[in-house]
Amino acid sequence: MNLFSLSIICIHLFVIVFVNSDNDVDPNGYILYCPCMGRFGNQADHFLGSLGFAKALNRTLALPPWVEYRYGEPKSVQVPFTYYFKLEPLQTFHKVIPMEDFMKSIAPKIWPKSERKVFCYVARGGSNDCKAKDGNPFGPFWNTFSVDFVGSVFYGPLNYDVHHQNMAAKWNAKYHSNLWPVLAFTGAPASFPVQKENVKLHQHLEWSDVIANRAIDFIRNTLPIGPFVGIHLRNGVDWERACEHIEHSPNLFSAAQCLGYRNEKGVATQEMCIPSVETITKQLKQAVKEYQAKSVFVSSDHDHFIPMLTKALKRMDVSIHKMANPEPHVDLAILARSNFFIGNCISSFTAFAKRERDVHGLPSGFWGFPPNRTRVAKPRQHEEL
Ligand SMILES: *[C@@H]1O[C@H](CO)[C@@H](O)[C@H](O)[C@H]1NC(C)=O
Ligand SMILES: *[C@@H]1O[C@H](CO)[C@@H](O)[C@H](O)[C@H]1NC(C)=O
Repeated sequence: MNLFSLSIICIHLFVIVFVNSDNDVDPNGYILYCPCMGRFGNQADHFLGSLGFAKALNRTLALPPWVEYRYGEPKSVQVPFTYYFKLEPLQTFHKVIPMEDFMKSIAPKIWPKSERKVFCYVARGGSNDCKAKDGNPFGPFWNTFSVDFVGSVFYGPLNYDVHHQNMAAKWNAKYHSNLWPVLAFTGAPASFPVQKENVKLHQHLEWSDVIANRAIDFIRNTLPIGPFVGIHLRNGVDWERACEHIEHSPNLFSAAQCLGYRNEKGVATQEMCIPSVETITKQLKQAVKEYQAKSVFVSSDHDHFIPMLTKALKRMDVSIHKMANPEPHVDLAILARSNFFIGNCISSFTAFAKRERDVHGLPSGFWGFPPNRTRVAKPRQHEEL
């Protein structure tokens, strides 16, 4: 054997050793889940909770792909977690692995097909089953990884609130990693909206270079030089319908982000949920003046109000913009960089931008908040006084 082939063998050996050590199995086990509820904003809330849960149980979290719904497509599309977010900042906080990598290099070692059980709180639909793959996106999600379940585990009365009642220890006692190396959940092991204690975990979410660079390019190439105000207008038909019931759901969706988790800062109003044109122009004018903004960036799920806002602010030296082909994640990354942000308190999409801004100490406001009302909300019955 000559020196050359010897060195090739050495390189091979090195690669094998390196790859193996890179894929060490976590003796404390893994957590898998389907982000099966809602769109990006909801999934992000659920992600923060799941990260907190995995940290408390000291299991590795498999980073699930984001579940997206494309117009005209009958099945959800699964986008790898790392397409949108960097891996390293999460890894400095806790053990995580992209679900694609888990399935490829860990699952064959510790999760044989014959032992793949799925976890849910209780059985569904009169069966003895979690029905983890029934419907969209449940089926398409697990099929992305060719996962089928041979049985169900009902974990009730345990819950996901690891910040109280010594819950993590209870999970680890009942489902020890020796017997249960993988806890695979039908949905996120987390609450919606994100639990108060988990909000700060947002600091570990950093946009991937792909997304961040698109946001930076837009700000540099499309917006005029100078400060800008970012706004989020949530006004699709589905949203209007949800807002009709706002008086009866004082903490609908992400309302806690401005009202507090116990409604200590008031109750949700129509103006906060679906602000009037008057409220929008009034608050926007104030913000433009205060921050001496040269432009306004608008993100919306439906109507960006560009002509209306351009007209309403025509006496101010400011231009109104949106992305030519809006992409929600790039919108969020732009909103996160604005000098001031006004969002929708009820929306989990707004909540994402707001949390990211809080990480960097940037100011944010909400439409119709604080509410201009003299009526004082009655405390709910279970609320502490
Ligand atoms: C968490 O698990 C890792 C192994 O993945 C172990 O090295 C570490 O000591 C554990 N931490 C705690 C606090 O138990
Ligand atoms: C509050 O609302 C009332 C009636 O809608 C209005 O007259 C008043 O100017 C508002 N106050 C503030 C501070 O916006």
